Amino acid sequence: MTWKILLLLNCLTVLLLSPASCVDRGNFKTCNDARFCKKHRELKSDDHIHELLVDSVTASSAGTSISGTVKNLKTNDELLLEVYGVRDRTVRIKLNELNPSRKRYEVEMSLDGTPDYVPIKMEKQHGQIQLLLGDTIHLTLHPKPFRIDVYEEGTLLSMLNADNLLLIEPMRVKPGKVQRFVSWISSFVPEVDEKGADHGEDHVEEENHEGGNEVKDEETKQDDAPAHEEERREEPWEETFKGHVDSKPFGPNSIGLDVSFIGFDNLYGIPEHADSLRLRSTKANGDPYRLYNLDVFEYELNNPMALYGAIPFIIAHSEKHTLGMFWNNAAETWIDIDYTTTSTGGSTMFGDSSSQPKADTHWISETGIIDIFLFIGPKPADVSRQFTTIVGHPYLPPHAAIGYHQCRWNYNDQKDVQTVHENFDHYDIPMDVMWLDIEYTDGKRYFTWDAPKFANPDEMIKNLTKFGRNLVVISDPHFKKDDNYFVYKDLKDKDFCVKSKDGGNFEGWCWPGASYYPDFINPAVRDWYAELYSRETFKDAWTWNDMNEPSVFNGPEVTMHKDNIHIDGLEHREVHNIYGMAHVMASFDGHLKRHNYQLRPFILTRSFFAGSQRHAAVWTGDNTADWNHLKIAAPMLLSLNIAGMTFVGADIGGFFKNPDAQLMARWFQAAAFVPFMRNHAHIDTRRREPWLFDEQSMFVMRDAVRARYTFLPFWYTLFFHANQTGAPLMRPLWYEFPKDSTTFGMDDEYLLGNALLVKPVTEENAKQTEVYFPGDSSENWHDISSLQIHKGGTKASIDTPLQKIPVFQRGGTIIPRRFRVRRSSILAIEDPITLSIALNDEQIANGSLYLDDGITRNHLEGDYVFAKLELKDNLLKSRVVHPSKKYQTKVWLERVYITGFKFKPSGVEIHELPAGERKPLEFFYDETNRVLTVRKPGVNMGKGWAIVIRP
Ligand code: GLC
Repeated sequence: MTWKILLLLNCLTVLLLSPASCVDRGNFKTCNDARFCKKHRELKSDDHIHELLVDSVTASSAGTSISGTVKNLKTNDELLLEVYGVRDRTVRIKLNELNPSRKRYEVEMSLDGTPDYVPIKMEKQHGQIQLLLGDTIHLTLHPKPFRIDVYEEGTLLSMLNADNLLLIEPMRVKPGKVQRFVSWISSFVPEVDEKGADHGEDHVEEENHEGGNEVKDEETKQDDAPAHEEERREEPWEETFKGHVDSKPFGPNSIGLDVSFIGFDNLYGIPEHADSLRLRSTKANGDPYRLYNLDVFEYELNNPMALYGAIPFIIAHSEKHTLGMFWNNAAETWIDIDYTTTSTGGSTMFGDSSSQPKADTHWISETGIIDIFLFIGPKPADVSRQFTTIVGHPYLPPHAAIGYHQCRWNYNDQKDVQTVHENFDHYDIPMDVMWLDIEYTDGKRYFTWDAPKFANPDEMIKNLTKFGRNLVVISDPHFKKDDNYFVYKDLKDKDFCVKSKDGGNFEGWCWPGASYYPDFINPAVRDWYAELYSRETFKDAWTWNDMNEPSVFNGPEVTMHKDNIHIDGLEHREVHNIYGMAHVMASFDGHLKRHNYQLRPFILTRSFFAGSQRHAAVWTGDNTADWNHLKIAAPMLLSLNIAGMTFVGADIGGFFKNPDAQLMARWFQAAAFVPFMRNHAHIDTRRREPWLFDEQSMFVMRDAVRARYTFLPFWYTLFFHANQTGAPLMRPLWYEFPKDSTTFGMDDEYLLGNALLVKPVTEENAKQTEVYFPGDSSENWHDISSLQIHKGGTKASIDTPLQKIPVFQRGGTIIPRRFRVRRSSILAIEDPITLSIALNDEQIANGSLYLDDGITRNHLEGDYVFAKLELKDNLLKSRVVHPSKKYQTKVWLERVYITGFKFKPSGVEIHELPAGERKPLEFFYDETNRVLTVRKPGVNMGKGWAIVIRP
């Protein structure tokens, strides 16, 4: 705590002098500071030529993969190449050391089970190897220099190692050491390295180590390879940054590879960075994008510095094609980007074509293996589906979690919580979830309560739940060193801590002071931790897992030492980016177990990796009350969404500093149209509940929350789609309009599903904002407040008085909404639906509706209603394509609201499907705005029905 407060004071002083943000860049490494990054970045393309030994290549007996040997012609090091066919136009390519002296870590936690492998055909022709996946995808393996080309229907899409930047530095054991890796349990004998310094960093012993990362026998890679002896001597067995010594008992063992996307000049993804959605070229200027989960104090905008989470997944997009690539590696990773053109004219197997754009990427990780999944698309939605089939679909959250969340560091006591909750009712602002930050605990001891302040947590929670509201409490992964604290004692007694390099329990500083960190990589530790959530007074609270990068205030780059040790002797550097994900997996499991697998959990996490969407929501951490931070939220959330992490939001108002009323109001409006809507603030900021601002601003904030609640049936249906298909909730415009190149660089407006276009106002005092309407002139965009219609392919200046949220419904879509104002969303879950229909030029529209009980996991047993909605030929139909098993919905249709409707009907009737009795309905036609309103159809949404509109 002291550490952070000092930094904060320091920052405040700087802020008086300059309004800029205050990250201490010197605390964090540049590529030059990370020796492996510098080394790979400086590689020349003839430094390491590799050769695929064609005769070594064989197909697996199942026919779903091939393997062969690739040789580094400079060092003679041998690599194992494996290529797998995966169902749904996906290819997996692995490169590992053929005979590693210590097993390299392969990430499995990111994968949603074993991929579904399918046959891949191999043909050896003209000294090359051709691999065929299905009828249209093929890979050419060029032996020397080794290169892999990926084609779809004869078009070259991607090249691996075209620049010969492939390098896997072999694992080895420090010279002068006995050759077996020591587990942390064994006694440690300090040894002196070449420089004579005793750093005590190596864990070496003679017994056999049973874990997954044992060092191989005797004559393994001692420092004896002649060709690069000199180079190796230059490489230290340790690296120092800001006084922190990182020992490397296995030497530098980094990996790197270049991957080019041919015909593409737009790359997106690799969150988390506070940067534009379209990735910038990093090659010529500045650092590569960095993926290394870090707690960055007052992060800066528009740069490639690492933040709290890492998803090494990139999308290449052009008007013709969309491709994806997942680099499944949990170590510190840097990605260089360069947009160029093909100098050789982009040779295809059918001959040369003219020069075309090319996006070059260079992937560099500190350790692990090269494990790549290529997703061949061809459309953005295909890539989302292909990627999330591998790493898992986002889970379906409980309904309340998609409502409005009220948080701050901190609500002081039980009475404070009660007052805030009552004030939401007093001011008629819907709210679903109250949050408690670290101060609710007894001295930052998670799973305890500060008894004087929270004397009766059960009562406090009940006072919320009886009004349909919930409580989230924070639970961080550092446990205070205090023998009277049961979690700490248990952690220590069970020997479940992450170890430091000397074999003792690793001790780091975080909020409570000296703390121990559970080794969540160990499944037994996850099981133990999961049980903690069953503690009586925590059973009915949801969870916020913070500081799980993990944050270590006195550690290198404010995180854990890379030479710390996890289960099976794994070094922390091997698993760093999945530590937070493992923490959350344990929490998720804990939530399931405590309610006998009946209820849906809600967990918010700050740190994440590919796959975290299976268990949690994510927020963008400690942002600032500043217009630029409001502006960066959309690109950051879009980047997460296209990388499978769909349930995301940014703290409303900005975590640090005090937003004025206008910024707060605009932030509420923007947040109402992103998946996760939470108001949160630093302990030193002023209170900022909506009623503490002037009345007009409060009304704007209230209207924004209410607007969100009217769209909750639409949001919930989108969450269901994401859960079924992996489709993002928030979509860049190009995702829905892949051929509209105007949209490729845009990230200040976006789509929700395929139906709503949102342009948040992020400029102070903006009287107007310019909106681009994507698509061609057949597209119609209906302003949901003014009802004005804009054509696709045009721009318009939209007036933005403070009350206005520029939101447009796409012609051709049907959106389910609810208009009754209630204090929380779960109280409205059986309220009637209004269908908002925006017609296209053909007077057609489509949509869907998902309904369930909002709380239980019965939907997994099929207990839900899913209806497809269609308006065509003046007939509006709801077809229940998934009727519920036990869940009986009471939800009925209250109103139908059709914009862009061209005539005044002579009558409107409804009947149940297939052929129920027809009943006339009341309707009203607004000729000026061309809006038809049909009143009270009254039909149950669990059944099929049709409304006939008579000309
Ligand atoms: C971290 C979180 C922030 C939280 C604070 C105290 O800085 O990012 O949201 O309020 O810790 O727990």
